Amino acid sequence: MTQLYSNLANIYHEMYQHIFDYDKEFSFYDSILQRANCRKILEIGCGSGMLARRFLDNGYDYLGLDLFNEMLDIARSEVKSDRFVQCDMRNLSFNQQFDAVLITGRSIAYVIENQGILDTLTGIHQSLKDNGLLVFGVFEANGIFDNFNDFEQDIAHNNKKLKRISKLKLNLATGWTYDWFAKYIIEENDQSTSFDDVTTLRCFTKDEILLFLKLTGFKTKEIIEEEKTFTLLAERISTLNAVYHKER
Ligand SMILES: C[S@@+](CC[C@H](N)C(=O)[O-])C[C@H]1O[C@@H](n2cnc3c(N)ncnc32)[C@H](O)[C@@H]1O
Repeated sequence: MTQLYSNLANIYHEMYQHIFDYDKEFSFYDSILQRANCRKILEIGCGSGMLARRFLDNGYDYLGLDLFNEMLDIARSEVKSDRFVQCDMRNLSFNQQFDAVLITGRSIAYVIENQGILDTLTGIHQSLKDNGLLVFGVFEANGIFDNFNDFEQDIAHNNKKLKRISKLKLNLATGWTYDWFAKYIIEENDQSTSFDDVTTLRCFTKDEILLFLKLTGFKTKEIIEEEKTFTLLAERISTLNAVYHKER
């Protein structure tokens, strides 16, 4: 598993404020949630809380969930809130209470086994009220593998220079997955430190993710396509119609 959310959590927090446009992301989710009249929400993969602050400031009844305590510690101190819980998304144990569950930042890419995807979606199904809404983004396999190039990023944060050199390599062991080798170089006060990191990420074809949703009791309402990614909006339907739940 990557170090990006544990040993390198502070680096993530500093870098991604410049990589993601969190205001734009919040507006995107906010308009979907308002349309569906959802106020009580769970954000899975909440990371260092960059969306949490915006949800709380806008009156949502919010809970953030993440696997890594290092990310949650940053979130708690940044947002000054205790609306965060440590948990693996594959192992949710809420009992039907949220109007909507969001998986943000394409965090489901870290769940690379089919069983993990099924366990995640089943746990979300159990955590949603009837007709509750699931919203999540994924990397789209065709788009990712069409433009499968190494890349570099240079980011200035306060008095630090952060550089990331990324190399990608196919690894199709558990699905449409690839290995991401990253070198982080941090320059501050004329000193330079570097860290190597590696992780495996999963992308999905559209058919494949729609089938995962159908099997676990969701009806897909909308697919919003962007370059290399897409966001799915799916409604919780009765377990009686869900093949995977019936078999268990
Ligand atoms: C790309 S980051 C996105 C963080 C945040 N949503 C943002 O936009 O900055 C992915 C997040 O998923 C979390 N994550 C990875 N695997 C997870 C798992 N199995 N269960 C819960 N969270 C997980 C990581 O700790 C990390 O915070």
